[in-house]
Amino acid sequence: MFRAAVKTLSVATTTSVSRGILLSIRHYCKKTPAKLRVSEAVSGADLGAKVKVQGWVRSVRAQKANLFLHVNDGSSLLSLQVVASSELNDPLLTFGSAVEVTGTLRKSPHQNQPVELEAQQIHVVGECNPVDFPFKIKERHGLEYIRQFPHLRCRTNAFSSLLRIRSEAATAVHSYFKENGFVQIHTPVITSNDCEGAGELFQVENEEEENFFSVPAFLTVSGQLHLEVMSGAFSRVYTFGPTFRAENSQSRRHLAEFYMVEAEVSFTQSLEDLTKVMEDMFRSATEHVLAHCAEDVDLFHKHVTPGHRVSPEGRLFNLAIDILNRSSEKFAFPTDWGCDLQTEHEKYLVKHCGNIPVFVTDYPYDLKPFYARDNQDHPEHTAAAVDLLVPGVGELCGGSLREERLDLLRARLEEAGLEDTYSWYLDLRRFGSVPHGGFGLGFERYLQCILGVDNIKDVIPFPRFSHSCLL
Ligand code: 4AD
Repeated sequence: MFRAAVKTLSVATTTSVSRGILLSIRHYCKKTPAKLRVSEAVSGADLGAKVKVQGWVRSVRAQKANLFLHVNDGSSLLSLQVVASSELNDPLLTFGSAVEVTGTLRKSPHQNQPVELEAQQIHVVGECNPVDFPFKIKERHGLEYIRQFPHLRCRTNAFSSLLRIRSEAATAVHSYFKENGFVQIHTPVITSNDCEGAGELFQVENEEEENFFSVPAFLTVSGQLHLEVMSGAFSRVYTFGPTFRAENSQSRRHLAEFYMVEAEVSFTQSLEDLTKVMEDMFRSATEHVLAHCAEDVDLFHKHVTPGHRVSPEGRLFNLAIDILNRSSEKFAFPTDWGCDLQTEHEKYLVKHCGNIPVFVTDYPYDLKPFYARDNQDHPEHTAAAVDLLVPGVGELCGGSLREERLDLLRARLEEAGLEDTYSWYLDLRRFGSVPHGGFGLGFERYLQCILGVDNIKDVIPFPRFSHSCLL
């Protein structure tokens, strides 16, 4: 019965029914102008075609005989110039209103906008009261001002450029890993492990039951330990996702929710195996962004963060403490061996090296989490850890070789009373352990670095930080 019914239906689809549908689609296409995105319309590929464009008005200029609009739909920084007879003017056509324009694409007499749309019809889809709208026509609002309107700031040129760059940079990160043989792993957002051990955790609870998962559960602070599991089967893995830190910090480089790119590589021989991946990824992503978002990056470098330039050159550097101690700078935090580097130290080191990205390697062993590989050096006693410091931001990446030797790892976990919690982690060393290592890159800090943006809240769509109200 069932089979017969299916058969009848498929015969009908390939004969009269489908022919009827095709005919009506063709009929519809003849009458309906093609819907184009602004980026397609301004490319000039459809000159002479009757098209429909939808978007938001970025400027309105009414002259005696003609009306000029600029319409933007977020597909590019460029807006499409619309030219219409003043008869099509409508008091509702204001800065910020949503419109649908039908007309013919033609060559524009103006040099800096080769294409314009000669409008036959303009329909105001959604009005926008220019008095109440927080952004004003022809005004260049600063990032700090637009930050007050997290629900509206994507309508500004600066923030829509930022969001296109962010989207393209994310694509570039995935492409880099794909081209270099990494397997993407979706590491969990809810987990019971505290990878960094710094206690900056958001606990996840069910409203009714306190222990929904039977053990305390947290929002992830890093996907590293899950990546380490996977690096025991795939020698190159990465993850790119939301990461949470309950740091009570209002700083320009800290968020409670941010995106981290993390990679883990097996069969490593030295820290250079990691610094090479960091450097290559940084370079490749930056080249991709510069090639695919030239106008958006230009807007930043010209108007939003004037004077900023990005340099994808890296340098290995492991004399950090010496340099700090030899400097005449007065630091607020101590620079003795064994003290962690603070933002002021990181910024000084980058400046000292000529404002280029700098790797700092081999940190005091006691400062690093249990997983960092012991260099077994004396008298310093360091761990094979590395940070990448970049101009204007400070720490962009943090990583290390992992302790792959079962006896050393077990001893360190026992010392911290963590051997039961991490018995599964010790298993990774028991069964086919290999030297390996990895790192994490803060995606927002990367965007700050390439665009010269001072405040991290200006490079994420909806920033979450301590004491912020949630949208
Ligand atoms: O140095 P972190 O804490 O390293 C780890 O979490 C390692 N487990 C990663 C790994 O080896 N797989 O964090 C990595 C990077 C930092 O260098 C920084 O760029 C960024 O994540 N980051 C933050 N970005 C924004 N807001 C915060 N609160 C951040 N905390 C860290």
